[in-house]
This record gives sequence, structure tokens and C-alpha cells, in this order.
Amino acid sequence: MTHDLKPAIPSPGHPAVEAYLAEGYDSVVGMSSRFAAAICARLLRLQTQEGVTGPIAEIGAFEGRFFIALAHALEPGELALALDIFSWPDPGVEQRFEANCARHGIGAERRRTIKGDAGAMAPADLLAQAGGAPLRFIHIDGEHSRAALTRDLALATACLAEGGLIVLDDMLHPGYPTLMVAVQAYLEANPDIVPLCVIDRETIVGATKFVLCQRAWFERYQSRLLEIFKDFVWPLGADFEPHWCLVLSQDTRLAEIV
Ligand SMILES: C[S@@+](CC[C@H](N)C(=O)[O-])C[C@H]1O[C@@H](n2cnc3c(N)ncnc32)[C@H](O)[C@@H]1O
Repeated sequence: MTHDLKPAIPSPGHPAVEAYLAEGYDSVVGMSSRFAAAICARLLRLQTQEGVTGPIAEIGAFEGRFFIALAHALEPGELALALDIFSWPDPGVEQRFEANCARHGIGAERRRTIKGDAGAMAPADLLAQAGGAPLRFIHIDGEHSRAALTRDLALATACLAEGGLIVLDDMLHPGYPTLMVAVQAYLEANPDIVPLCVIDRETIVGATKFVLCQRAWFERYQSRLLEIFKDFVWPLGADFEPHWCLVLSQDTRLAEIV
């Protein structure tokens, strides 16, 4: 039996995110998929529904494509931190980031731009930028080396709120095969953190993301994900040996074996 591909994306759960994904997302230069942006915005909504509140951060904000979607998904008074060295591919990237945020409705009062090397940032410095509150959501999309991801994961873990989520970009990407080695080592060293779901790639640029959560929150979050994303669940799931988690994909077919 064949199934149609589902190029649709799930509802992000916020009218402002929906409007940005429909009209603004493709006009901001960036690398993350609309599918992942919709899911992550919906995860932020889920956290709100579960009583998890507070600031968020993106390591590697670049020109703001994904950051703007996340910031639109916050509740009034919650802050979004954008961390980047802002020197690649040219120094003008910081101004383009600021202009994109302003153009797409993320005013300066809702966010903080932090220009610097995530690898040199202590957890206390990042938390201070967030007004002292732990972070409920951290998207890691900075330097793509094993050492840098290991450092960024340590920073994110130290700053994570109860019920918080850590999202890793460019997982299983053909261009960065060793990132998975860092993730595996991190999961072995941090048994209280587990993969909540895998967000399948849209294209080679809009790549796969892993969403991590505290083990104590896994069942609670997963049961909600099964309802919220029911049309996007790939039936076989992801085997992290021995932990299993959901795979969310726009293509939920199985291989035809007869
Ligand atoms: C792939 S881009 C991010 C794309 C963006 N998240 C999006 O979805 O459109 C990677 C970004 O990480 C930044 N970066 C690289 N090394 C970094 C570091 N050590 N600390 C902070 N940011 C870094 C780069 O400047 C670049 O803007």
C-alpha cells in the first residue's frame, strides 16, 4: 500500500507563529525547517499548558529565522536570548538579525542579543542575561564540532529549568557525522536526560533535530505529543538503545516489503 507524502506542517499553536511561518519565514535567511519551527513552537505552547514558564535561548541565532518563530511562541513577559558570535559570514549579520527581528514583530523588549562565543560563556553569565531565571527551552545550533556541541550541551544542561527542553540541530546530517558521537557520550553521562522526540529533516538544509527532556518529564510530554502530532508520528520510533522515542516526520510511510 502506498501513502501520500504529507508536506503539511502541524499547527504551531500560536496565531503569531502561524502568520510568521506562512508569510515571513522564507524571507529570513537561515537553515532550520518550517516543520521543525512549527513543532518547536507547539512544544513551547505545551510547556505553557503544563505550567513550565520562563526564558528561552538559541545558541547560533544567525539572521533570526528560527529565533523569531520561537520568540513569537512565548507568553507575555518571557524573554528570548539570541547568542551568536555574529561574525559569520560577515560582520553585517548582527544588523541583519536585529532588522529581521524588528521587521517580524519581535521588539527589543522581548529579547536580548548576546554577541559572544558560547564556548566561553559560564552558566551564571547566561542565566544573568535571563534575569536569573532558568531556561525552559534551548536550541543549540552554534559551532558544529564535537567539542563545541559537548560544551554547548553542558551549558544548556546547567541552565535548564524543571520541565525544560534542549533541542539539537543538524543531527544525523551527512555533513556532520561526528556530532552524534558527542550526543551519545552526553546521554551516557547524563542519564537524567533522554531524547523526547526526533524531528525528521525536511531537506538537507532543514535538517533533523533531536529534542531532549528530563527523564522525569518524558512520559508526561510523550503522551501529549502522541495526541498533538498524531498525523506526523512515524510508526517505528527511534531506538536510542535502550530508550525509545517518537519520530515526527512529514513522511510516515514504512518500507514496502511485499
Ligand atoms: C547554522 S547557523 C544557525 C542557523 C539558525 N539557527 C537558523 O535556524 O537559521 C550557525 C550559527 O552559529 C554561530 N556560531 C558558530 N560558532 C559559535 C560559537 N562558538 N558561539 C556562538 N555562536 C556560534 C554562527 O555564527 C552561525 O550564525
